[in-house]
Amino acid sequence: MAIISASEHGPHRGYSRAQVKYAASYVVITFVVLLILNIYCSQTCQKLFYQSKQSSMIEKCQLASDEIATLEVLNSSTVTGIVSQMESLKITRLVITDHRGMVLYDSSSEALGKYMLLPEILQALDVTETTPKGNNVFYWKYYDGIMDSRAATPIVCYGSVVGCVYMTEYDVAQGALIQSLQDTILRITFFLEVIVILFSIAFSNAFSRRLDKIMSSMRIIQEGDYSHKVNMGGNDELTILGNEFNDLTERLQTSEQKRSRFVSDASHELKTPLASIKLLTDSILQNDMDMETIREFVGNIGDEAERLNRMTAKLLSLTRAEGRTDADCEIIYMAPTVRQVAKMLRQTAEKADVALNLELEGDTPVLILEDDLYQIVFNLMENGIKYNIAGGSLTVKLSRVEDNAVLEVRDTGMGIPEEALSHVFERFYRVDKARSRQTGGSGLGLAIVRTIVQRNRGEIQVSSVVDQGTTFTVTFPAFDTEVDRS
Ligand SMILES: Nc1ncnc2c1ncn2[C@@H]1O[C@H](COP(=O)(O)OP(=O)(O)OP(=O)(O)O)[C@@H](O)[C@H]1O
Ligand SMILES: [Mg+2]
Repeated sequence: MAIISASEHGPHRGYSRAQVKYAASYVVITFVVLLILNIYCSQTCQKLFYQSKQSSMIEKCQLASDEIATLEVLNSSTVTGIVSQMESLKITRLVITDHRGMVLYDSSSEALGKYMLLPEILQALDVTETTPKGNNVFYWKYYDGIMDSRAATPIVCYGSVVGCVYMTEYDVAQGALIQSLQDTILRITFFLEVIVILFSIAFSNAFSRRLDKIMSSMRIIQEGDYSHKVNMGGNDELTILGNEFNDLTERLQTSEQKRSRFVSDASHELKTPLASIKLLTDSILQNDMDMETIREFVGNIGDEAERLNRMTAKLLSLTRAEGRTDADCEIIYMAPTVRQVAKMLRQTAEKADVALNLELEGDTPVLILEDDLYQIVFNLMENGIKYNIAGGSLTVKLSRVEDNAVLEVRDTGMGIPEEALSHVFERFYRVDKARSRQTGGSGLGLAIVRTIVQRNRGEIQVSSVVDQGTTFTVTFPAFDTEVDRS
C-alpha cells in the first residue's frame, strides 16, 4: 500500500516543485530586468534635468559676467549698481567677487566684504596656461525633492580674469517634477511586476495541468488500460509529447493483443494433441482391447506426441527468428540451398507423386544467413508438396529482376481461396484445418517464413487459383560481388 501511494503522489510533488521553480525564476528575471530599466529611466531623467539646468545657469552667469566686464572700475558700489538692473535672473543667491575671491556683491548680504573661497569660485578663478580665461563651473545635487545647483564663471576684462560670478539655486518645482517622474516609473514597474507574477502563476498552472494529464494517463496505462488516449489540445511540444504517448500506447496495445492471441492460439493448438493422447490412453486403460487395437492406439499416441514435438520445435524456431540479429549474415548464392532442400524432400515428393523441377540458372547472390534461407525454401517447398495433388508438380525458379534476386516456388496443387490469402502468413492459420491436421501441419511454417524474409530486408507475396496452384514469390536485394557458387 505504501509503495502504491508513494508512486501515485511522487510525480505530483515533483510537478509543484518544478512549477514553483519555473514561476519563481520567471518572476526574478523580469524583476531584475524591470529594476534595471527603472534605474536607467530615473538616471536618464535626472541627466536631462542636469543638462538643461547646467546650460541655463551658465548662461545666466555669463550674462551677468558680460555685463560686469563692461564696468570701468570693479568695486562693491559699481557692481551693486549693475546687478540691481538684472532682476530677470531669478536665482536664489548671486555673489560677485573680485579676482582674489573677495565678495563685492552678495544678494543675501551674508558674505559682503569677506573672502568667499568656495571650491566653485576657486575653480572659476583658476588661471593656468591651458585655461588663461578661468573656468565655467557647474555643480548639481538632487536630494529630497530639491534640485541644488551652483554655477560660477569668471569675469574677463581685456583678456584677464578680474572676478567671478557665483550663483546658487534651490529649485523645488523641478525637484518635485523629478520626484513625481521617478514615482510614476516605480509605480509602473510594480504594476508590471504584479502582472508578470499573475501571468507566471497562470502559465505554470496551465503547464502543470497539462503535464498532470500525461502523468494520469501514464498511471491508467500502468494499470493495464492500453486503450486510453491522452488529449493534450494546443499545438506545442506537450501536444507532440501527448501524440507520441498515444502512438506508444497504441503499439503497446497491438503487441499486447498479439501476445495474448499468440498465447491463446498456442495453448489451443497444444491442447488438441494432448486431449487426443488423454482420450487414447483412457480408452486403453478402461476397455478390454485386443493387442492389435492397443498397438494401433499406442501408434496414434506416438503420432500425436510427434505432432506436439514438431509444433514446439516450430514455435522455438519462430521465437528464434524474431530475436536473431544480422551479425552472421553472409553473401551467398541461393541455388546450393535449394538443391539441398530438394534432396531432402525428394522422397516425400515421390511418395506424394509430385514432380520436382528446379530452374536455377538466374541465381543471384543475396545477403542472408544460410540457415534462414534453408528455412524459407524448406517451408515453401514442403507446402508445395503437401498441398499438391497426385501427379502434380512443384517448380522452384531463381531469377533476377532489376536489382532484386527472386525465388519463386510454384505448385500445381489445390490452391488457396482468395479470402484466405491474406491470412496464410498468420500464426496457426490453416485453410483446411482437418486436412492440415492430417498432414501434421501446425500453421506456423509461413509465419516463420514471413518473419525471416522481412528480417533479411526481403518481401514475400502469394498468388493462387483454387484447383490450379499456388505461387510464392520471395524477393531480396541483389548483392553483386564475386561469391563462391558451391
Ligand atoms: N502451396 C500451398 N497450396 C495450398 N495451400 C497452402 C500452400 N501453402 C500453405 N497453404 C495453406 O496455408 C496454411 C498455412 O501454411 P503453413 O505452412 O503456415 O502451415 P502448415 O503447413 O499447416 O503447418 P507447418 O508448416 O507449420 O507444418 C496451410 O495450412 C495451408 O492450408
Ligand atoms: Mg507448412
